[in-house]
Amino acid sequence: MELLFSLLLLCSTILSLSHHCIARGGLWSSLHSGLNTSGGASHARHLFEDHESQSQTSAFDSSRGYMTNSDLEMAIKDLGRRCSNITRIYSIGKSVNGVPLWVIEISDNPGEEEAEPAFKYIGNVHGDEPVGRELLMFLANWLCDNYPKDPLATLIVENIHLHMLPSLNPDGFSLRRRNNANDIDLNRDFPDQFFPINENEDARQPEARAIMNWLREIKFTASATLHGGALVANYPWDGTQDKRTNYYGCPDDDTFRFMASIYSHSHYNMSASTEFPEGITNGAAWYPIYGGMQDWNYIHAGCFELTLEVSDNKWPKAAELPVIWKYNKMSMLNLVASLVKTGVHGRIFSSVDGRPLPGSVTIKGINYTVRAGKRFGNYHRLLVPRERYEVMASMPGYKSKNTSIWLDEGPATVDFILDPEVAVKGAVLQNIYDCNCSNKCKLDFVEFLWGAHLEVYLVLILILGFLCFVQRRIRGNSMGSKRIAV
Ligand SMILES: *[C@@H]1O[C@H](CO)[C@@H](O)[C@H](O)[C@H]1NC(C)=O
Ligand SMILES: *[C@@H]1O[C@H](CO)[C@@H](O)[C@H](O)[C@H]1NC(C)=O
Ligand SMILES: *[C@@H]1O[C@H](CO)[C@@H](O)[C@H](O)[C@H]1NC(C)=O
Ligand SMILES: [Zn+2]
Repeated sequence: MELLFSLLLLCSTILSLSHHCIARGGLWSSLHSGLNTSGGASHARHLFEDHESQSQTSAFDSSRGYMTNSDLEMAIKDLGRRCSNITRIYSIGKSVNGVPLWVIEISDNPGEEEAEPAFKYIGNVHGDEPVGRELLMFLANWLCDNYPKDPLATLIVENIHLHMLPSLNPDGFSLRRRNNANDIDLNRDFPDQFFPINENEDARQPEARAIMNWLREIKFTASATLHGGALVANYPWDGTQDKRTNYYGCPDDDTFRFMASIYSHSHYNMSASTEFPEGITNGAAWYPIYGGMQDWNYIHAGCFELTLEVSDNKWPKAAELPVIWKYNKMSMLNLVASLVKTGVHGRIFSSVDGRPLPGSVTIKGINYTVRAGKRFGNYHRLLVPRERYEVMASMPGYKSKNTSIWLDEGPATVDFILDPEVAVKGAVLQNIYDCNCSNKCKLDFVEFLWGAHLEVYLVLILILGFLCFVQRRIRGNSMGSKRIAV
């Protein structure tokens, strides 16, 4: 009985999802050429000149040309009204001086949990590095204006939950200085793997605590913080145990180099850097820091975070902002889109009742665990393309399963159906009705089968078994972005 059910579940999963997948696969492949470096040099320079003549009419003008904290709040709320169908505006807490830390979420179902990866951008971690907060408003407005007419905007809005916190340090911004109102560097205020800095969470700054609580609530697959003062994409580790300045790679060093390269190579000239080969750097190889946000994200929040230095000049003339946006636009978009254009994704289910399992996924040879979501059992594992990987799913109380895949240019989708360690008897029928997984269509289909007459049921199983067999044969080795079930 259990075997039959597993078969049924496998087939119904494949059948009910294949439609969806083909639609998404099509979109992905048509967009695959979308990794584009924005414009050419001459194009960008012209934009700069064009903009100077128009800067009077820019919505972001204040006396210095940068948005004040209240201008920023207004710009965020205006955006929320202008694009209310794809945005949600919320605050994750307040700064020392009581300024709300506003976040813009962009998605076709903002505020709803879906089996999709989430990405976060954080700007203005350092008060005197304000370019990031302006760039995030450009990005949010661009997505608002270009969804659904631009395919890259559509890909992001429909397949990812993008959260943007333009300013983590509004007090430092008003004070025109790096640190927050308590004179603490927020990028040194997180728990550290080597040196226990501020282990007492209550002693931590409200801005850092807000980030930590935010990450307990939302599962982010990847993220980036925006800084200024250099032009480079920086990746973990940021610190070394012996405090020396040395390359110190984390278990996902290859993945991080790949992500950082997406940013630098999509940028106008970041990859042309003479100081940093390819425009990327390991944090500890540049200069080690402790208590940083980046390493903490990877270790404690399952989130692959980059630290992006987006302009040599920390506080360039406001008239240059539109140009800096042009330079960074494709980088910012491509980094977010990489969450669904690459990597291994899927869901983990129980073979007993089809319930999604919050299991974990590991890759052979990489000492790092990615956890699946509680509600949908969905996981999103970023990896370097054009490699073979052995993917393993596990869950306490269930037998682990693994499969070997060839990850091509595009994403791969691998679902796991895990068997319990101890066979469960008689629980099958009952549990189907308890299952609160999202795949309503699949459940209805299963319920329909159970309700039908035995003969009809047997015939259907045979047909499904055959279809399933054929599908698996056809899929064979050509993974691409197609979904397979394991
Ligand atoms: C990519 O860039 C080229 C020129 O640099 C342009 O013609 C083309 O339209 C761009 N493609 C996309 C998808 O932006
Ligand atoms: C990138 O372009 C900007 C603006 O033209 C220039 O100031 C900067 O030096 C360039 N950086 C590199 C690494 O080429
Ligand atoms: C894997 O990483 C953990 C820390 O996350 C460490 O304690 C453990 O020793 C590592 N295992 C191997 C085999 O390197
Ligand atoms: Zn900084």
